[in-house]
Amino acid sequence: MVKAKKSAPRATTVGAIDPEVLVFTAGRDVILDHALVEVDCLGTAAHVVMLSRMKVSPPVLTERECSSVLGELRKIVEQARAGRFKITIADQDAHLAVERTLTAALGDVGKKVHTARSRNDQVALDLRLFARNEILGTLEESVALARTLLAFARKHVAVPMVGRTHMQPGMPSSVGLWASAFAEELADGMELLMALFELNNRSPLGSAASYGVPLPIDRALVARLLGFDCAAHNVLYANQGRGRLESLLLDGYSQLMLTLSKLAQDLMLFTMPEFNYFALPAAYCTGSSIMPQKKNPDVLELVRAKAAKVRAAASAVFDICRGLPSGYNRDLQEAKEPFMEGIATTRASLRVMNGLVSGMGVNREALLKGFTSDVFATDRALELVGEGMPFRDAYHHVKNNLHELAGTDPAQAIRKKTHVGAPYGLDFAWMKKTG
Ligand code: ARG
Repeated sequence: MVKAKKSAPRATTVGAIDPEVLVFTAGRDVILDHALVEVDCLGTAAHVVMLSRMKVSPPVLTERECSSVLGELRKIVEQARAGRFKITIADQDAHLAVERTLTAALGDVGKKVHTARSRNDQVALDLRLFARNEILGTLEESVALARTLLAFARKHVAVPMVGRTHMQPGMPSSVGLWASAFAEELADGMELLMALFELNNRSPLGSAASYGVPLPIDRALVARLLGFDCAAHNVLYANQGRGRLESLLLDGYSQLMLTLSKLAQDLMLFTMPEFNYFALPAAYCTGSSIMPQKKNPDVLELVRAKAAKVRAAASAVFDICRGLPSGYNRDLQEAKEPFMEGIATTRASLRVMNGLVSGMGVNREALLKGFTSDVFATDRALELVGEGMPFRDAYHHVKNNLHELAGTDPAQAIRKKTHVGAPYGLDFAWMKKTG
């Protein structure tokens, strides 16, 4: 066996790179990777426990050495939480910064932690652990908004609202129907995200540089220790699943943003003075530097624009990946920023929309004023069908006698729509279950 020489701890440098090239290649990692330090330590903790249990003689890492690494990792996590952990340009990224810190504290023991691991599976793991936390947080925020929308819908279930197609008045509807439609759409966005959570919840660690290692590592143990459902099986797949997975997740996030954007668009329209159906909470409106009377819906406009940005982030990640040959390629590093940005933007949008909807007022008078008598035309035709007239005859009869609709009561009209999912057939308990 070749004995490792005892050497003074030094920065973990990989390659001899020109300083400018180093700045170029490290890119935004020295900033972005701060979000990965804690999960990197978590992954390293599981990895060293596995190494210490690996059946080789002499052991790669003794139990004592493993404990000392775990102790140092804990310190790094504390430092990171306090915003004191540094990633230098020489480190390039969180992975080498953690290894440098461990080696500075533990000498040769620190140098052993990267056994049977590559930065490629390490970063793939970190991103999956990061995504797992983010998805859980996103689900909580989505549930909060869906609940707020449902509470709003419940409170105003009997308030009539014109239902539109092509933006033109169509049929009698209700505020309850309008608001709970967005809650249900959010709920299926959450289902999509939960499916993506499952796909994400597989450990890539131990795939190393993509091709496995000639040591009896226990990938299943690492997966279990980290709370994954299993290890991603094929080691090449485990590595090159990076990028594709982020693109899938961003597809899910952009679906949530699609819902928020449509909700924002409706609110911009329905809070215009000409409609005045709803009133935005004052704290969610901005003023104008020149027009003293202004109360602008900037929040809604920004949510609409951010939906485009999250979609663009999904496209960016997809396009970064689609031309890649198999195995690791540094292109993947460029997917990190749109990935993190897309998630952060969606979560911020969910939170701000929740506050906005919570404080929103309803103007029943204005909503009723929106009802011109022709809005009742379809309902009247269907009433005639109920009395035995064929639908097309009823349609023409009403079309030729629109004046007969004058004086119809919108509140009465919506009370007649009692089938499943209609304004008076909304099952809030069912929605709660799905949400
Ligand atoms: N910061 C790198 C990334 O995000 C880590 C992996 C570097 N691997 C390599 N073979 N250069 O992709």
